Amino acid sequence: MLNQIKTLELTVLTKVTHIKDEETLIQYRNDILGKAGELTTILKWLKDLSPEERGTVGKAANETRDIITDAFEAERKRIKKEFIAQKLETEQEDVTVPFSHTKGSLHPITMVQQEVEDTFTRMGFDIYDAMEVTTEYLNFDAVNVPKTHPARDMQDTFWLEGSGHVLATQTSCMQNLIMKNKSTPIKAIIPGRVFRNEDVDATHDNTFYQVEWIVVDKWIGISHLKFTITTMLSDIFGKEVKIRMRPGYFPFVEPGVEVDFSCPFCDGVGCKICKGSGWIEFMGAGLIHPNVIREGGLDPEIYSGFAFGFGLNRLVMIRYGIPDMRYFMSPDVRFLKQF
Ligand code: PHE
Repeated sequence: MLNQIKTLELTVLTKVTHIKDEETLIQYRNDILGKAGELTTILKWLKDLSPEERGTVGKAANETRDIITDAFEAERKRIKKEFIAQKLETEQEDVTVPFSHTKGSLHPITMVQQEVEDTFTRMGFDIYDAMEVTTEYLNFDAVNVPKTHPARDMQDTFWLEGSGHVLATQTSCMQNLIMKNKSTPIKAIIPGRVFRNEDVDATHDNTFYQVEWIVVDKWIGISHLKFTITTMLSDIFGKEVKIRMRPGYFPFVEPGVEVDFSCPFCDGVGCKICKGSGWIEFMGAGLIHPNVIREGGLDPEIYSGFAFGFGLNRLVMIRYGIPDMRYFMSPDVRFLKQF
């Protein structure tokens, strides 16, 4: 029996070195070491031997099993190595073969934001991206929203508990920082993502984009505001757009106005988009409140400014006739492919 074991060992050790592929190796391993394998069968016979014989033969059989097991493992590694080497040799990639893959495109919000930025950087405006996490001070106090003022509820805020931080509810949270850190004249566009704790529906999302303009210098008045808004909208819609102003309340402006613009689709005649009125209600604006100018480190007796801001999502919806705001944040590429 000892002989039989040694012969088996020799046979296996020779044979495995000739095996070329993993599948044959696994099969052969099974034939030897598997449940009904040759060596396994020999090991099963051990119990029929006398105790002395069982000792020596058993020892030899176990040794052989270890040697064979190691040999299979070593050969498996060799075969794998050869396989990779051969693959590298035969399957060199031809980098000159033309390939195609789907190209991505800009999100419609990014597209319109970039257009707006282009127009106004040409007019000498600087761009300041709004922070997404800001402080309660910058988002509210610095823009004249007193602690107890109901305006804090006006924009349902995500509070980062205990830290004094909030998710920015408005790009106006950058006004104070810009005034404190930049010298006049200040001409700034502030695009940013803002967050409000709101129920989501076709026209509201808890995460959306705003763009805000601020200009601060000596002698800035409503006429500058009106010119800037008209230029911005006419540029976006590619035609002359009229605006109208109605009194509106925002704590950081005085006077504050709500701005509507003439419907660019029916030129003010009345259509589905403007709900027959010829006007689209659009944004908040006004002359920067003296308290805000003062808090920004400037003297409101000398400096004045205007500010206006709006939801970019809505502008993009109007421009492209998008019926539901939720598309913007959805991962549906069929929506994105249209732009
Ligand atoms: N921050 C205001 C809002 O989010 C918009 C606004 C900006 C109004 C600047 C007036 C001036 O509703």
